[in-house]
Amino acid sequence: MELSATVLATACLLVLSLSISDAWLFWRSYPSAKADGKAVDPNCVALAKAGSCEFYPCFEDRLRCGRKWYNVRYGEPYCRDFTAFRERFSLLGQKFINASEPCIANELLSWYKRDRINCHDYTHFAFKALSRCYMRSGFCEAIRSDLINFMTIYRPKHLFSLGALKIWREILRIVNFCDPKAVKYVINAFWESIKE
Ligand SMILES: *[C@@H]1O[C@H](CO)[C@@H](O)[C@H](O)[C@H]1NC(C)=O
Repeated sequence: MELSATVLATACLLVLSLSISDAWLFWRSYPSAKADGKAVDPNCVALAKAGSCEFYPCFEDRLRCGRKWYNVRYGEPYCRDFTAFRERFSLLGQKFINASEPCIANELLSWYKRDRINCHDYTHFAFKALSRCYMRSGFCEAIRSDLINFMTIYRPKHLFSLGALKIWREILRIVNFCDPKAVKYVINAFWESIKE
């Protein structure tokens, strides 16, 4: 009873805050990033292929969207956290990390190679790429074997910022796709992890 109330409250909070943030953003103009003649750096391409977190600052060096958008707000910090905590993950979890990071970076390459990008559209694309790559890299299995480890990654920093909610909406969407029954365990683990 208590659990389902919490689950419901969390779901409402997510939906509400996201519709507010989307409506809010709708009225603002989205910034673009321009390469201004800066060439595609083969080193950045190599970093993406290797799944290195250095790809994100390398991307920003050519097309700078800044701290509100995917590379700085999500791509690099989550990549660094996954890499830093990799050893704690089970073998399945490590396989997931090793496969998903290069997968996402490779999908982002087509945007890196453009001469101008709309930062909002890019962030939207990057989240879609993240979902696709999570599914392809064994997220459904890894979230079972490493639930607590995933919470360590997704929990701390900017818990109630719009950024964290966007990640959470995506994670819950993917978990629901993996197994609708697993959603409540993930939400419960989320609340447990904030209590600490
Ligand atoms: C993941 O990648 C790291 C670093 O390249 C490597 O040491 C580790 O063996 C890989 N783990 C798995 C399970 O593939």
